[in-house]
Amino acid sequence: MNDTSALQYPEATVARLELLWGEGFLSVGGPAEVSAICRGVDLHGLDILDIGCGIGGVDILLVKDFGAASVLGLDVSEHLLDWGRARADRAGLSGRVTFRLCAAPPYPVPDRYFDVAFSKGAILHIPDKPGLFRDLARCLKPGGLFIASDWLKGNGATVAGSLNGFGAAEITFESAPAGEMAAALHEAGFTSVEMRDRTEQYLKIARQDLSRMKGRLRTKAIELLGDEGFESWISAQAGTVARLAERQVQPTHIRAVLR
Ligand SMILES: C[S@@+](CC[C@H](N)C(=O)[O-])C[C@H]1O[C@@H](n2cnc3c(N)ncnc32)[C@H](O)[C@@H]1O
Repeated sequence: MNDTSALQYPEATVARLELLWGEGFLSVGGPAEVSAICRGVDLHGLDILDIGCGIGGVDILLVKDFGAASVLGLDVSEHLLDWGRARADRAGLSGRVTFRLCAAPPYPVPDRYFDVAFSKGAILHIPDKPGLFRDLARCLKPGGLFIASDWLKGNGATVAGSLNGFGAAEITFESAPAGEMAAALHEAGFTSVEMRDRTEQYLKIARQDLSRMKGRLRTKAIELLGDEGFESWISAQAGTVARLAERQVQPTHIRAVLR
């Protein structure tokens, strides 16, 4: 693991993301987007691996609301995992929602164990997509499902860097275009690969988020970030709206089945 991993998603970043998307959620749309990602998939009784789980809100939701038997969340940041563990404990789910620190694939999990590999807003931080998908193919049972949401590279030269107000020094962004992601999934042994472009929906959410930030979240956000931090958050969010409107980034829901 590199030395910057501890700096990724520091406390102030986590606080402002939770302010937008709800307690425990660090990526666009929070629980509503998790529902959209999982729409039509029956997760009851299944064992799920969550790549880039953050502070565990998604993982608890997958067990509590979607009926998963268990979720193992992997992340590069120990402090986020600690918050996830505390959250699972408070929810009385620490036996079914567990967390493990992982830098990069191959992950320290058994072969052919999981029914589902899930990820939300995290694959853009993992540079080696083919390596990731090969390892997910190893972790999943045959016929297992990969369901995810990720910021893919759109039609611009820029990757997703500086989305949602991240500074370049804070965290690595390595978005790939949809065609490259689909080819890497096929190459790793997945079939029925589906890529659903969510740009329109994310643009709507990002615009709503911007007006919430300027409106009812303003006072709380200034308390958290100070005046200067608040202004730079607003301008970063306006940048996210512009990049989405210009299709420089392409938020996408991805599904694939392991052969
Ligand atoms: C936008 S947050 C999303 C967290 C969570 N999935 C959610 O929706 O609330 C991205 C997460 O990816 C994690 N991450 C960054 N690099 C990673 C890597 N190489 N492997 C796994 N997770 C990583 C970050 O620490 C962070 O928790």
